[in-house]
Amino acid sequence: MAHLRIASMVGARPNFMKIAPIVHEIHRIPGIEHRLVHSGQHYDQQMSESFFRDLNIPKPDDNLEVGSGSHAWQTAEVMRRFEAVVLEWKPDVVIVVGDVNSTLAAALVAAKLGIPVAHVESGLRSFDMSMPEEINRRLTDAVSDFLFVTEQSGVQNLRKEGILDNRIFFVGNVMIDCLLEHRKFAAKSEILRRLGLQDDGFSPQAYGLLTLHRPSNVDDPEVLRELLSAVAVLSVKLPVFFPVHPRSMERIREFGLSGYLTEEKSSTPRRGIVPLSPLGYLDFLCLMDQARLILTDSGGIQEETTILGVPCLTLRDSTERPVTVEQGTNQIVGRDRGKILAAASRVLGGERRPVHVPELWDGHASQRILKVLLGKFQPELLRAASQLPSQY
Ligand code: UD1
Repeated sequence: MAHLRIASMVGARPNFMKIAPIVHEIHRIPGIEHRLVHSGQHYDQQMSESFFRDLNIPKPDDNLEVGSGSHAWQTAEVMRRFEAVVLEWKPDVVIVVGDVNSTLAAALVAAKLGIPVAHVESGLRSFDMSMPEEINRRLTDAVSDFLFVTEQSGVQNLRKEGILDNRIFFVGNVMIDCLLEHRKFAAKSEILRRLGLQDDGFSPQAYGLLTLHRPSNVDDPEVLRELLSAVAVLSVKLPVFFPVHPRSMERIREFGLSGYLTEEKSSTPRRGIVPLSPLGYLDFLCLMDQARLILTDSGGIQEETTILGVPCLTLRDSTERPVTVEQGTNQIVGRDRGKILAAASRVLGGERRPVHVPELWDGHASQRILKVLLGKFQPELLRAASQLPSQY
C-alpha cells in the first residue's frame, strides 16, 4: 500500500494551534506516517504542554529540548538537532508553520537535504525587517516548495518576490480551523467564573484583554511604560486582564513597571490591569470571545478576533495580516498613548465596523493542505481519502 512520510516541526506557542488541525487531518487518512517534532523553543508547561492537552495533539515523537537563547544560537541548535532526526527518518516532506525561529531552522535543514518543504502561513509580510518574524517568513518562503497562504495579500507578496504560481496555494487559515473546532469547548471554560466575571445565569461583566510580547514593545522601557500607562487609563473604566508572557513579566520587573499592574487579589476585580499567568488555549479563547475589546501585539489574535467579531486594537505600526483590518475588527493603533486611548474610547462608545469573514477562513484549510500534498506525492492516497466524509 502506498504511503507518505511527513515530518512536522513545532516549537513555540502559536505553532501548536496551527499544527493541531493538520495533525487531526493526517490521522484521518490511512497511509500517512507522521512524525511530530517539538524543538523545545517553548518549554514551560503553560507555554507548551497545556496546548497539547487542550488541542488534543499527541505527545511529540521527538523533543529536541533546545530552550531559550540568542536568535543565532537557538536557530542553529534547532538545525543541528533536527538534521539528525531528518537524516535518520527520511521524510518525504517537512511541514513548518508560522514564523518563529524553529520554523526557519527546520525549513533550512530540509531544503539543504533536498527534502521538499511545505510552509503553512506563507506570504505574510509586515515589511518591517526589524521584526525577527519577518526575517523568518521571507527566508522560509524562499526555500519552501509548497507555499500555503492564508489571505490574498500573501499571494500578491509572493508573486512580487518572483515566486511562481505553481508553488503558491491559497488554502485559508489553519488557525481558524482550530478556533472553529474548539470554540464550543472554550465556551465551557470556567475562566470567567474563576476571575469573578460571571455569576450563574448572568452575562459577564465588561472587561478588556491585553497581550504584549514583541521585543519592540517589551524590551524598551519607555515604550513599555507608554503602553502600560495607556492601558492603565483605560482600565479605570473596565478591568483589563493581562496574561503575561514570561519575557514580558521579566521586563516589567526589570524596568520597575510592576506598579502599573493591580495587586488586587479579590475574586471580583473591578478595575485595573490584572496580571494573569499565561493561559491555555481554551481559557484564552473563552476570554477573547466575551471581551469588550482586545489590545495586542500578537499576529494570531488579530485573526482570531476577526472571526469572533471582537474589536481588536493592534499595538504595532504595521500588520502582516491586512485582511483583518480590511474585513475584520482590527485597527492598527501603534504605541502612542493618545491614539490608543482615542481608539479604545470609540470602541467602548459603541463604534462597530462591518465585519466579513475573510475568503476561505471556513475551517477547511488543513483539508486543502493535505489534498495538495497527497495529490503531489501519493495520488493513490488522495483517491482513498476521497471516500472519507470530508471535502476531498
Ligand atoms: C516567540 C516567537 C514569536 C512568537 C512568540 C509567541 C521567535 C523569533 N519569536 O517569541 O514570533 O510570537 O514566541 O509566544 O521565534 N520563555 C520562558 N518559557 C518558555 C519560553 C520562553 O520563560 O517556555 C522566556 C525566556 O526568558 C526566553 C523568552 O521567554 O528567553 C523569549 O522566548 P523566545 O522563544 O526566544 O521568544 P518569544 O518572545 O516567546
